[in-house]
Amino acid sequence: MASAEERREELVALFKEVQACTRCPLHETRTKAVFGAGDADAELMFVGEAPGAEEDRQGLPFVGRAGRLLNQLLEEIGMSREDVFIANVLKSRPPGNRDPQPLEIEACRPYLFDQVRLIEPKVVCTLGNFATKLLSGNPTGITRVRGTPQVHELGGRTVFLLPLFHPAAALRTPSVKETLRADFGLISELLAGPAPGAAPTAEDEEEVEEPPDPEPQPTDEQLGFFG
Ligand code: URA
Repeated sequence: MASAEERREELVALFKEVQACTRCPLHETRTKAVFGAGDADAELMFVGEAPGAEEDRQGLPFVGRAGRLLNQLLEEIGMSREDVFIANVLKSRPPGNRDPQPLEIEACRPYLFDQVRLIEPKVVCTLGNFATKLLSGNPTGITRVRGTPQVHELGGRTVFLLPLFHPAAALRTPSVKETLRADFGLISELLAGPAPGAAPTAEDEEEVEEPPDPEPQPTDEQLGFFG
């Protein structure tokens, strides 16, 4: 097991690698790569989609309107940005805020899995469809999976994955905002509860086979009868 200091050093090296990354064409149009920010030892991580215009300018995640809503929701559960680590599926802004493309997601995904491995969170909240589908490995849309914690192995670590609506969607639709606010209540419960390692992972559950029907065992009465 790497010490906290070793993990932090590796995270700093990863940060530098992302700043210089040219794995996909988005490096040609970005202003700054957005690695992610927050507590390198956080129990709680958020994963959004990709940097927007303001994030691209500042090199920091969730610093626009969606970020302000994220801050407010965190405050409502007694937490702040300093307590958590915030990252994105893509580290570079797609031009015009278009959807991330499959090749961009593939190029960037090792960075995200390394971040989870090095930060060692207990809970990873995926914000919106892109982060949820990538980290759960399941194509089911966010509307169906939000608000139900899953257990997954990510970056060699068993974590709770909690899919949530994206704050940008919540800004557009008041009912989505209320659902997102209600789902935030689950975060505190997961953080306070037992470790996710105690529960079977989604991968385990897929592998579990129905046990065969047991052989009928003789009862005491039957033994008496035959004995
Ligand atoms: N939306 C995201 O998904 N990520 C950000 O960093 C900002 C807005």
